[in-house]
Amino acid sequence: ARVQAAADVADLRRLARRRAPRMVFDYVDGAAEGERSMAMAVEAFDRVEFSPRVLRDVSEAPTEIEILGRRIAMPVVLAPTGFTRMMHRAGERAVARAAEQAGVPYTLSTMGTTTAGDVAAAAPGGWNWFQLYVVRDRGRNAETLALAADAGMDVLVVTVDVPVAGARLRDVRRGLTVPPSLRWSGALETLRHPAWWFDFLTSEPLRFATAEGAPDDLAGLTNLLFDPSVTIADLEWIRSMWQGKLLVKGVQRVDDAKELAEVGVDGIVVSNHGGRQLDRSPTPLELLPEVAQAVGDRTEVFLDGGVRSGADVAAGVALGARACFVGRAYLYGLMAGGEPGVTRVLDLLRAELVRTLQLLGVGGVQGLGPGVARLRGR
Ligand code: FNR
Repeated sequence: ARVQAAADVADLRRLARRRAPRMVFDYVDGAAEGERSMAMAVEAFDRVEFSPRVLRDVSEAPTEIEILGRRIAMPVVLAPTGFTRMMHRAGERAVARAAEQAGVPYTLSTMGTTTAGDVAAAAPGGWNWFQLYVVRDRGRNAETLALAADAGMDVLVVTVDVPVAGARLRDVRRGLTVPPSLRWSGALETLRHPAWWFDFLTSEPLRFATAEGAPDDLAGLTNLLFDPSVTIADLEWIRSMWQGKLLVKGVQRVDDAKELAEVGVDGIVVSNHGGRQLDRSPTPLELLPEVAQAVGDRTEVFLDGGVRSGADVAAGVALGARACFVGRAYLYGLMAGGEPGVTRVLDLLRAELVRTLQLLGVGGVQGLGPGVARLRGR
């Protein structure tokens, strides 16, 4: 009921903050180092200026688009996020189901806490994608991809902006462990969030396929598992293990985008990992038009980072994105209220997008372009 009363994603963020223990909320809400990249990604959307047409018939404002050869209900993709069952016991299954209902793709992370098979079983009619982090144990990458393909996943998102772990200072300060431990939470924190702890301690334990004795802090785990030697040449090897579409996520320069278009990926995601990796990295919304201009005719360009509303989605599409990835926004909904919380976020994004299209005087997402939105202050 409380998630239904949320008027926007910021309301759901406030609910999430109340419900989840601090270290869990901060794991989601935080970013790397001084958190400048995250702040700038969000702030860039404040600088969007729309130029609405008037006296246009906007009685219809269709939001459907086609990406990677398939129609989706609106230009939104749910981004991969690790440890999703830590945010709410319903975890990845809830997010996949909400995405299925809303008609948008959901991306399961390599660091997910639900198997590809279980996600597919929870949302059999959804368009479920898989995100790969290349791990040092090269054989294991093949096994992971085979499981995703067996589960019917046909789009692979290879994330390339984590050669090593970013420095998430909130996690360091709070002593976040994965899984979270009562030891760390402190008695007061536990008492403040009894419902979360009850849920957490009574749900299926978070299990990770890591070696015995692996570090339980996120950065340590990341650096132990992930392969920092990956290069563009490895995309060929990844291709050889994957029949479906292939996207590369974490592109932050026009020249890298061109190289990737050259080797023939199906799409690139302009992203700095929500500011969670290299701080002071380029602001995705600012970089987007140049990348779309440079490679948009050869590969599908997606935007990722800072999207908190349907108006943001409209801005991203107007400035060159096929669709916008959304990360924290749906996690706030999940933390605030499980699957209904995620559904609330997707309903809000959709309603905001439709209203924006109508107020812009464009007859649907197809009408979005640089003519109706610009970025001030560049
Ligand atoms: C992420 N992100 C991420 N990306 C990825 O490729 N694999 C992953 O496992 C994760 N894990 C993850 C956890 C959490 C808690 C967050 C917030 C983010 C990054 C994510 O896919 C996306 O790039 C950002 O979240 C986009 O920024 P916004 O939408 O959160 O501003």
